[in-house]
Amino acid sequence: MSKMHPKTQWQPSSWQGKVASQQPLYPDQNKVGDVLRRLGSLPPLVTSWEIEKLKADIARAQEGKAFLLQGGDCAENFDDCQSDLIAIKLKILLQMSVVMLHGMKKPIIRVGRMAGQYAKPRSADTETRDGVTLPSYRGDLVNRVGFTPEDRTPDPELMIKGYSLSALTLNFVRALVDGGFADLHHPEYWDLDFLGHSPQKEEYQRIVGSIGDSLDFLETISGRPIHQSSHATFYASHEGLHLPYEQAQARFIERRQRWYDLSTHMPWIGMRTANMDGAHVEFFRGIANPVGVKIGPGMTDEWLQSLISLLNPDNEPGRLVLIHRFGAKNIAEFLPRMIQAVKATGSPVLWVCDPMHGNTETLASGVKTRRFENILSELQAAFAIHEDMGSHLGGVHFELTGENVTECTGGARGLVDRDLARAYRSQVDPRLNYEQALEMALLIAGCRQVGGA
Ligand code: PEP
Ligand code: CO
Repeated sequence: MSKMHPKTQWQPSSWQGKVASQQPLYPDQNKVGDVLRRLGSLPPLVTSWEIEKLKADIARAQEGKAFLLQGGDCAENFDDCQSDLIAIKLKILLQMSVVMLHGMKKPIIRVGRMAGQYAKPRSADTETRDGVTLPSYRGDLVNRVGFTPEDRTPDPELMIKGYSLSALTLNFVRALVDGGFADLHHPEYWDLDFLGHSPQKEEYQRIVGSIGDSLDFLETISGRPIHQSSHATFYASHEGLHLPYEQAQARFIERRQRWYDLSTHMPWIGMRTANMDGAHVEFFRGIANPVGVKIGPGMTDEWLQSLISLLNPDNEPGRLVLIHRFGAKNIAEFLPRMIQAVKATGSPVLWVCDPMHGNTETLASGVKTRRFENILSELQAAFAIHEDMGSHLGGVHFELTGENVTECTGGARGLVDRDLARAYRSQVDPRLNYEQALEMALLIAGCRQVGGA
């Protein structure tokens, strides 16, 4: 039974009256209907009180009193729903957050791109190889990466599988966060060999040493291990791309008199689906979750201002997270104008920098990579531009993994293009590996350190 919102005339299916881009074409609509009914009756993956807690955390970050760290794979694979892979992803995010907390002296809000990051936007609907044209791979929620008609035909059952694997992932993450991850706060347990390869090794070692000292100090005065004093909440997020999947998990919460998308805590609208009259914006306007919006070079002032008034008409704190991704070369040209446009609305937003998606390069070999120095340079520019304009950067968004992959170049070990073939695993965008991600956190901590350079 569907409840229409009295003021906004919104209901979870409203988006169906708009143009929905990036949606799979399923051959059998009856099967889709059956899957969506089943999805709609399964228990929610997250709860409205967790979502409201994240919203309150984001509201604090909007005031400069907290900082958001969002990270994970470009796309999760069903095959990677394994205990060790989930644990190391959580480990890198937790360790980055400890480093950043130490440097910034602010609580770090941890948000994984995980437990549901299974659907991908594609630039073309089809892919042709050796004269054979098939539907593009749109993520494990939709079809399979293999290049056969069976693999590429969208299969609605994959939505149930994606939902189930998201639940398994969240279940394990919640258990680890609740207790099993105790020691990982302490740098003694981190894999720091790579630091020795960097020209900045002394600076890094000084930060790591002082993190260890602070933790020891806190444990001494509180008389408890650190994980028992820090209630390390962990939130999930994914691109809210597949609208039937999201709609099936939208629930009206009587007690709050609002609709929530209970597939994840913070869904975001991708750059390719943020048009004002499109179906994605229509769906997102009616849910009460905090929502992210990716902002790229194509965004205009008026468009951004209209998005803000449609997605957050009541200027609710904690509701809107603007994730800019311009590229190191373009950020100085685009960001100041966007900051001005948002200021003119008077509406609260959290500014987050995604230094990954504007810095993707394709090598002559066809391999996609990103360079550590460009990622860092966009981040540094983002901090500086916000500061210059009386705004502030309140978070960062990375594509990363806890594995020792070789997908991005640079970092302490100086990976170069020819190293990429060694351990390139991503089927979509290149991710920072464990060492590169931790080094990025050390660099953020070092330059944002109170009293630091
Ligand atoms: C992504 O986050 O993987 C992505 C596709 O980003 P964007 O929408 O910013 O291009
Ligand atoms: Co990506």
